[in-house]
Amino acid sequence: MKIAPLSDVLGAEISGVDIARDLDGEAFAAVLDAFHRYRVLAFREQYLNPADQVGFAARFGPLEVHDNRRYNLPDHEHVMVLSNDLRDGGPIGVPDAGDSWHTDLSFKETPSLCTLLQAVRLPDKGGDTAFACMTRAYAALPADIKARIAGRRAVHNPSKLVNPRVEISPLRKDADAFYKGQSARFAEVSHPIVRTHPATGEKSLYVQPRFTVGIEGMDDEEAQPLLDLLFAHQIRPEFVYLNKWREGDLLMWDNRCVIHYATGGYAWPDVRTMHRTTVLGDRPY
Ligand code: SIN
Repeated sequence: MKIAPLSDVLGAEISGVDIARDLDGEAFAAVLDAFHRYRVLAFREQYLNPADQVGFAARFGPLEVHDNRRYNLPDHEHVMVLSNDLRDGGPIGVPDAGDSWHTDLSFKETPSLCTLLQAVRLPDKGGDTAFACMTRAYAALPADIKARIAGRRAVHNPSKLVNPRVEISPLRKDADAFYKGQSARFAEVSHPIVRTHPATGEKSLYVQPRFTVGIEGMDDEEAQPLLDLLFAHQIRPEFVYLNKWREGDLLMWDNRCVIHYATGGYAWPDVRTMHRTTVLGDRPY
């Protein structure tokens, strides 16, 4: 097994190993170590089937069943299809997943620890995923901003309908009903703006424009400009790694200290299909 950094800020590629079959306890410990160090791992030439993807993901913790059940595989509820491919006029998967900067399921009390995404079909152009390191972003904040956010909690909400910073894709025909349903199912939650990583102890910025809509106990007049400042800061080029997918890639990322964004840039009949599995995390502190 070879582990090689992908950029100065984030990511390592892991090659020469079949992660579904070859990872004994010692090799898995090396993968976990690399995961904590590089935060984004690209396993090359995997082509995992859903059962193998679920088996590998489960080594990191309990798996989540995504709320958008319509796109979970019928025989593998822990695998959700992301795709712009069409069947009977409708998409076969979530067509707009990750179309603004976010960290997965931060609108839950216990958001996702990590996400595993297996490339099933890649478009001829576009389809890159951008990642930004929130540990670096936090460390680089000016002292006065660190003081303003210290001990503060941000409010997270899943609905795009209540978030003026994000757009609803025209591909998402079910958006109105879906987001209204999410609002009914999930009360707003708050999490610390500065999150401590449970494994490394490092502090990271834990806000992003997709789900973070306010700051607890702070008027919007003060909170919204502060969030705008944090959102602009957190995606400065020096914190970002842009992943260009290869056939067979399985990527995983640490949602506790990384935000990501599916950059798009392709349209049907150019098809992008991914299989996504998320691992349950702990309550941020
Ligand atoms: C996601 O945000 O979960 C998906 C990212 C991608 O498809 O690149």
